[in-house]
Amino acid sequence: MVCLGNICRSPLAEGILQHKARRAGLHWNLDSAGTNNGYHVGEQPHQLSQKVAKLNSIDISHQRARSFTADDFDRFDKIYAMSKDVLEDMRSIAKRKFDAGKADLLMNEVYPGRDLDVPDPWYGSEPGYHEVFKMIDTACDKIIERYGVKKEDRA
Ligand code: 4NP
Repeated sequence: MVCLGNICRSPLAEGILQHKARRAGLHWNLDSAGTNNGYHVGEQPHQLSQKVAKLNSIDISHQRARSFTADDFDRFDKIYAMSKDVLEDMRSIAKRKFDAGKADLLMNEVYPGRDLDVPDPWYGSEPGYHEVFKMIDTACDKIIERYGVKKEDRA
């Protein structure tokens, strides 16, 4: 899960998907990162992201911001960008490692091909974080539906 700061949106996305995956008995290796987070590296998620997560019974306080790297394309099967600017940043950071088959906008899981952004709540107030939570939550339900078939249940 990738956004700009790895402070507001992608920590929520990591926490929400982790919560749903665990509940579904899936052992997925999940992480989040930022494409443009220089001075935020090592920080906890934004207080409002932590608050909104907690109101939904999800603890994201252990997360620490890190930078997205080209090697993330070696380490992960699927990489979701929260917004189009982030997807473009991923392309320029990853260069020849960019894999269009692995990268997509998160909201395309809900509205395929519409290329919608999860809006950046950084400059706004608490309601923006609730809106972002809802969007990400819906997308994560789709991800579980789509990829969450346990090996033993596959035909
Ligand atoms: P995020 O939000 O990409 O959802 O983590 C932002 C966090 C910090 C900044 C921008 C967006 N910033 O400019 O510091």
